[in-house]
Amino acid sequence: MNESICAVILAAGQGKRMKSDLPKPMFQVLGVPMIDWVIRACERAGITDICCVTGFNHEVIEEHVKGRCETVIQTERKGTGHAVMTASDFIKRHRDGHVLILNGDAPFIGHDTILPAIDEHIANGNSVTVITAEIADPYGYGRILRTPQGDVKGIIEEKDASDQQRQIREINSGAYIFRADALLESLEKITPNNAQGEYYLTDTLYILMNEGKKAGAYKSEDPDVVLGANDRRGLLLLNNTARFAIINRLMDEGVEFTCTDGVSIGPDVSIGAGTVIMKGTIITGKCSIGENCVIGPDTMLCNTNVGYGTHLNSVQSHDSTVGNGVTIGPWVQLRPGTVIKDGAKIGDFVEIKNSTIGERTAVAHLTYVGDSDVGSGVNFGCGVVTVNYDGEKKFRTTIGDNAFIGCNTNLVAPVKIGNAAYTGAGSTITRDVPDGALAVERSDVRIVEGFGTRRLSERIKKNTK
Ligand code: UD1
Ligand code: CA
Repeated sequence: MNESICAVILAAGQGKRMKSDLPKPMFQVLGVPMIDWVIRACERAGITDICCVTGFNHEVIEEHVKGRCETVIQTERKGTGHAVMTASDFIKRHRDGHVLILNGDAPFIGHDTILPAIDEHIANGNSVTVITAEIADPYGYGRILRTPQGDVKGIIEEKDASDQQRQIREINSGAYIFRADALLESLEKITPNNAQGEYYLTDTLYILMNEGKKAGAYKSEDPDVVLGANDRRGLLLLNNTARFAIINRLMDEGVEFTCTDGVSIGPDVSIGAGTVIMKGTIITGKCSIGENCVIGPDTMLCNTNVGYGTHLNSVQSHDSTVGNGVTIGPWVQLRPGTVIKDGAKIGDFVEIKNSTIGERTAVAHLTYVGDSDVGSGVNFGCGVVTVNYDGEKKFRTTIGDNAFIGCNTNLVAPVKIGNAAYTGAGSTITRDVPDGALAVERSDVRIVEGFGTRRLSERIKKNTK
């Protein structure tokens, strides 16, 4: 591509039907805001000069796209043509090239549609090229009007269309490529003479064609690329569409799904062949999962990397790393900064935070490990707690290789348990334990003979009165 291309993303609308303070482009599809899908499509198409038109609660989008896009504020929502006019200073700076226009609420237009559309636009010497698709239910979209020869004639909105025009199933995706100079000139000529009293961007097609300039349509084979969300039902449809697109791709790559109920996997997740995903598994953010794992049921992973041959059953994990051949669950939470090394075993009702658990270490039941560095081959008894917080500061616990932490041990940090050291069950360990030693820190047993018998006879006396 020798010609320069910039992009304008229309994202000023409120999306009234969402009934929310969140600008519509910030609503998420598979855990990723729609606007990010759109920006990513530009970036993957090699377009880095991007201007976002914001309006409704504009601060939210401005903050979100900072560093990736310029922004302009459309103070009044007077239609898509008016929105593009708001960005005219940006477009003027790119006057010698072409402008890609995208809707901030239509996340599925990818670089694989954008790039061939740009090629066709340039090859045909068009002033404008609209990206279209034929869809089963065109309700609500602008329809593409064509001459009997099949050339594009214009776009008519649902509200302005005749009954006959409403039968047309080829629709306007809301994505276009314009020659920048042609766009700037034609924008000045549009008027709000239509059913909605808005400045329609789509009117630029008529204006350009009237001036003898070329308009074309790039028709996508995939009807899903044009889908947008106008309300929450539409958003759910987008999520389900994206969900199954990813599940189908993963199946082609050798991933097995026993049941897709409640399964949602984000666009930035890679999963190795032979891995089985069970029901209720949600994987979001940047995650990579190796081969031959079993993930689920009821597991949620966010920004988590998992090796191969690992089983995660009812696990919640954020910003963590899990090695190979690890077994975790059921009902385990891994909080940010956790690293579980190869062959470790983490059992039920265990929470681990900001800690490293060494190779083959077992933390089998009812345990909290926070801010700790745990060696390899360590065994945790049931109910161990690292006491990492004194109400003001957090401290670390260090446990050497092959140590044995007795049941119900409190490890009061900062504290260090040596290699192959033991702690006695029920101990509250407040001092470092040397390598190979046993530490028992609890009061000695006191046996009071006859105490229970006396209590029992008192109770019997009271009840027989
Ligand atoms: C628009 C198109 C329609 C197309 C559809 C595809 C026009 C006149 N119609 O209709 O042909 O089939 O998109 O989804 O262009 N926006 C602003 N400022 C405004 C108005 C809108 O920034 O003043 C933004 C919205 O936030 C949204 C996009 O532009 O991201 C499209 O606006 P919307 O009102 O949803 O247009 P549609 O009626 O769906
Ligand atoms: Ca729309």
